[in-house]
Amino acid sequence: MARYKQWRVFTAVLLVAAMAIAVFALLKPQQHVKPVAPTKVAPDNAWVAPEINNDSSLAPETKTLLLYGEELITHTAKYFGPKGIVSNTSNGMNCQNCHLDAGRKSWGNNFGAVAANYPRFNPRAGRLQTIYGRINDCFQRSLNGHPVETATREMQAMFAYIAWLGRTVALNSKPVGSGVEKIAFINRAASPDSGKLVYAAKCAVCHGKSGGGLLTATGMEYAYPPLWGANSYNTGAGLYRLSGFAGFVKNNMPYLQATHSSPLLTISQAWDVAAFVNTQPRPSYDQQNDWKDIKRKPFDFPFGPYADTFSQQQHKYGPFQAFAMVKK
Ligand code: HEC
Ligand code: HEC
Repeated sequence: MARYKQWRVFTAVLLVAAMAIAVFALLKPQQHVKPVAPTKVAPDNAWVAPEINNDSSLAPETKTLLLYGEELITHTAKYFGPKGIVSNTSNGMNCQNCHLDAGRKSWGNNFGAVAANYPRFNPRAGRLQTIYGRINDCFQRSLNGHPVETATREMQAMFAYIAWLGRTVALNSKPVGSGVEKIAFINRAASPDSGKLVYAAKCAVCHGKSGGGLLTATGMEYAYPPLWGANSYNTGAGLYRLSGFAGFVKNNMPYLQATHSSPLLTISQAWDVAAFVNTQPRPSYDQQNDWKDIKRKPFDFPFGPYADTFSQQQHKYGPFQAFAMVKK
């Protein structure tokens, strides 16, 4: 009994001491905290794309070709869409829908790094890929269409424009803010249910309740591009992987409101809305010939087989931290 009492007294003393420490900590919250350096955020205009009209060194025919290339990237559907004047090759989206400001916008999936890094080995295809091949990848996947012949004036113009945009970038380097940003992982699986709420609150107003987007009055291209359904990107596209979608959307959507330095979605919201949108129906793409070397599949490639033992579900939605830990 005495021992029991002693024990109680001892516990009480401990409790009081702990409370005193807690109160002290609460009263003097900041004093012993090490100052934290502000997170480094690269400026939104990390890479400044050149302007065709400001380049006085261009021969007139080169300038005409570049301007045509820019036009094709901006209004792709007018030329290649279901009502296209060159051919009926694509789903009606524009390259610019995903490569903002004709591939010039920092953090907007710009083309800054392309000239400096192609041709390069493409692990998905298992072979060297040229800029032409990469453009056709987007035609076949993001635009759910057919490849465009290299010799056509259209392909030559798009190629020339993209190569010209990045011509001053040092070989094999990537300007800050080019392509799609790899955003931080969250420590749970991305949730289509939570993403549905994000979509209704922040995306549906433009992209539509049913995700089908909105055509312009001429019906030739989209004012607001589709996010799923028959005219959207297919299951082989970069945006079909959650990291691609989340990284693009976090820095750029809602359109003209969110920026890299002041995004409007939290990291979790970006992953969740990616999960929701990529759970909706869309055209499928035969990927049997992709990632022949399965060890090189990206962590969020949503189709097996895999070189590890994680499920297809986890490869699609996460949690992804586990993969990073295994790879370490
Ligand atoms: C639905 C969205 C979407 C559309 C539409 C689209 N792309 Fe892409 N494109 C992507 C994504 C995502 C990537 C991969 C970016 C990354 O990995 O950082 C990409 C990559 C590229 C790249 C390689 C960039 C690099 O730095 O390696 C080129 C070139 C390209 N696209 C050209 C085009 C062209 C030309 C069109 C129109 C014919 C087009 N894309 C349409 C989403 C799209
Ligand atoms: C104010 C209207 C608006 C809102 C709100 C908006 N978007 Fe967009 N979104 C656009 C426009 C316009 C484009 C195409 C930009 C261009 O062509 O220059 C676009 C492009 C996209 C693209 C690439 C093209 C495609 O269709 O696949 C994705 C993905 C996207 N938005 C996702 C979202 C998500 C997710 C949200 C909500 C968090 C959202 N957007 C909110 C207007 C909007």
